[in-house]
Amino acid sequence: MPLQLSLPTIRPVSGPLSEVEADLLVVGCFQGEPLRGPASALSDEAQSLVRDLSEGGSLKARAFDAEWIYPAPGAVTRIQLLGCGKPVDYDMRVARRLASAAARTARLKKVGRVCLALPSPKGVSPSRFAAVVADGIVSGMFGSNLYKERPNEGYPEQVLVWSDGEPDGPADALDLGRRLGEQVNFGRWLGDEPSNIMTPERFADELAARAAELGVECEVLDEAAIRAGDMMSLLSVSQGSARAPRVVVLRYNGGEGPLTAFVGKGVTFDTGGISIKPAADMHYMKYDMCGAATAVAALFALASLGAKANAMAVVGLVENMPSANATRPGDVVRAANGKTIEVINTDAEGRLVLADVLDLARKRGAERLVDIATLTGAMKVSLGTVATGAMGTPDEWLDEVVAAARRVGERIWPMPIYPEYFELLKSNIADMTNSGGRFGGGLAAAKFLQQFVGDTPWVHLDVAGTAYTDKDHPWQLKGATGAMVRTLVELIAPAE
Ligand code: BES
Ligand code: MN
Ligand code: ZN
Repeated sequence: MPLQLSLPTIRPVSGPLSEVEADLLVVGCFQGEPLRGPASALSDEAQSLVRDLSEGGSLKARAFDAEWIYPAPGAVTRIQLLGCGKPVDYDMRVARRLASAAARTARLKKVGRVCLALPSPKGVSPSRFAAVVADGIVSGMFGSNLYKERPNEGYPEQVLVWSDGEPDGPADALDLGRRLGEQVNFGRWLGDEPSNIMTPERFADELAARAAELGVECEVLDEAAIRAGDMMSLLSVSQGSARAPRVVVLRYNGGEGPLTAFVGKGVTFDTGGISIKPAADMHYMKYDMCGAATAVAALFALASLGAKANAMAVVGLVENMPSANATRPGDVVRAANGKTIEVINTDAEGRLVLADVLDLARKRGAERLVDIATLTGAMKVSLGTVATGAMGTPDEWLDEVVAAARRVGERIWPMPIYPEYFELLKSNIADMTNSGGRFGGGLAAAKFLQQFVGDTPWVHLDVAGTAYTDKDHPWQLKGATGAMVRTLVELIAPAE
């Protein structure tokens, strides 16, 4: 089970901050203007302490800086002044991460009750803001320390979320944010589990269990069913592994509208196969299933939120290993849509998996496609760990995805898929090769995927740089990030 035994209750509060009863009060302060926003609801005494700290230079309020007032005046034990950075840079991304950082502080300080008073970004509705704070709190509670001795220590029992509006106004929005955060964490948990545990079979079992809980339709295809579906491109990846592959189709029917499919790369471990990867950093390839984790987390979130829309998740779960049965460079396979592929590099396996699951999504009635994959090191080189690369067609569909990401504060950046990129994939023996070499690697990969989507609107999200972090941050420690789950949810069910 995911590492999240007991989440705190999350309740709204409003009114003077001096009357809030809590062990810890976290107040967001802007750089240069520490008393703008929620800090102006502090008591006069606390405000004058804030002014002193600011004038004395110890309260700079750069984003994620922390300064303490302890013991604190009023009904709270201690106050943390949490830097929000400059007002111009303050957005949903920063707000959510500050809420996560505050939740982490509450855990570290082992407090029973914490109150968060963060400023709302400009132009954001009170309900959207409440949801983002709750989501941030739940995300901040998540830990990757799955196999440590006391992983679940220090959860606060109660979190109060302060706002300057009606006392009970955002209660429903807090609940929605919490539901979203829970499913994001489910996806992160799938990513963090090591590959000896989270095999294709176990992954599929976990999806079936969660689908049953949430009333989502779930169909699991085993190896025989995958073969019967002629998905030989996907099977060419799993054939070298002792672990049998799975394909899982989840379906949520919540209302009207077109059927969108989230299609995920779920390589539970990527050794590279016969085109084996170097040893350094190979352990990160347990995260090579994060595209699939994102796809299913978004679908489960839609179900948990009770979204009035329809969506599907289709994920290909395989392990890429070298062995006597493994695909050899130069082998030719026929994908389920009839196209032939010369596998010149067995490490370009993600696209071989996606080729068949994209086609399956269309066969199951998808009218719009978004695929999510840790597809290329080249995309990580281009955009670093900061942004997800987005490619697709038509432009209108790509624009919709980009706009959804902007609204929730996730970063994606459009990249081109000009016809010339297909020339990189010319084969003398088959319809295409599976690798176009180093230059434009992320774009040639997308061009490859395009051969399997027909005329269905399609966007490809390459999360190779964003799906996991190998650095500790104030808002999250090393591990899977859940990147793009919120964007996909917003795309199908925009928040009010
Ligand atoms: N899973 C990798 C891509 C990857 C690399 C994800 C680093 C996250 C971090 C993918 O299967 C892969 O190996 N791609 C190759 C493609 C190449 C052989 C054409 C790559 O990017 O080197
Ligand atoms: Mn690979
Ligand atoms: Zn891979």
